[in-house]
Amino acid sequence: MAIGIQLFSALLAAWSIGGVSALPSPSKDARGLSFDIPSALTSSNLYGAPANNFSCESSHNPVVMLHGLTANREVDLNLLQYELNGRGYCTFSKTYGAHVIPSWIGGLTDMRGSAKQIADFVREVQQKTGASKVDIVGHSEGGVQSVYVPLTQDGISDIVEHIVALGPAIHGATYYGFTDLWYIGGNVTRTLVGQLVDLLGCPACEQLAPDGLVTNQFAAADKIVQDGNKVTVIASSSDTLVPVAVSTIDEPGVKNVLVQTTCPDDGVGHAGLAWDKSVWRLIINALEETDDEVFPCENGLAF
Ligand SMILES: *[C@@H]1O[C@H](CO)[C@@H](O)[C@H](O)[C@H]1NC(C)=O
Ligand SMILES: *[C@@H]1O[C@H](CO)[C@@H](O)[C@H](O)[C@H]1NC(C)=O
Repeated sequence: MAIGIQLFSALLAAWSIGGVSALPSPSKDARGLSFDIPSALTSSNLYGAPANNFSCESSHNPVVMLHGLTANREVDLNLLQYELNGRGYCTFSKTYGAHVIPSWIGGLTDMRGSAKQIADFVREVQQKTGASKVDIVGHSEGGVQSVYVPLTQDGISDIVEHIVALGPAIHGATYYGFTDLWYIGGNVTRTLVGQLVDLLGCPACEQLAPDGLVTNQFAAADKIVQDGNKVTVIASSSDTLVPVAVSTIDEPGVKNVLVQTTCPDDGVGHAGLAWDKSVWRLIINALEETDDEVFPCENGLAF
């Protein structure tokens, strides 16, 4: 998908953490693992997100989209972004939590740092679009961040209205399987990302685990969800990575929605939540506070 490659190059060019972006980047480590984004991926029609357009106007709140662990803005909720744009929404996304090299595997670094990056981005979207409130849709770690950022970052809950979290590991999940998203580039891509994550380290993986730092912060909070935030958690009974009980937020005002309540035959798994039309329907319902059958039920990907 040529547009995806262009956008990705632009993103790489724009990317900078602490001014080190000008350093030459080694493309391989001593073991011969390549840090470059695999071409099997960039050529996939599942790859590539629309550019952020702060001049975009909509009668809906602008929507910030947060990808999951090991993913990035070009791979995960990117197709949903196009769909929402087609429905008149303005959407915005950013890769957070990536090591400087490779910058295309996001969500790995300390989640407290990622929460600051995301809070800055939410403020930027709110200010540049001039909207009074912003909505957030997050998948997996992005779903966790969609409630963690308003909980921990000053002033964010005041400028956020709807929050939709897909399979968020609120009460602790183990790392194995988070890289399954990368099956979209084939088994080779998935294996490569798994090896790179092992090489680079993944503080976020520890923090999301049972007894991890973020898991414990949620457990210690009086309320995970902040006043004025309308939270919908969407979970699938076929999600073996983040089981329903791990993603449920049992607080007044939170809607915990099971995919199978509206689509009983949908066996969608954790990664598949990002692409499943049964789930997209529930997301749009949450953003618009309706129960319309936006899409017919689909049988999502099992992984
Ligand atoms: C951004 O949105 C504005 C307003 O809808 C539109 O006129 C403009 O063409 C868009 N820019 C890009 C690069 O898509
Ligand atoms: C992917 O590769 C792993 C090991 O390299 C193998 O165990 C697994 O069966 C493969 N999966 C698919 C779907 O081919």
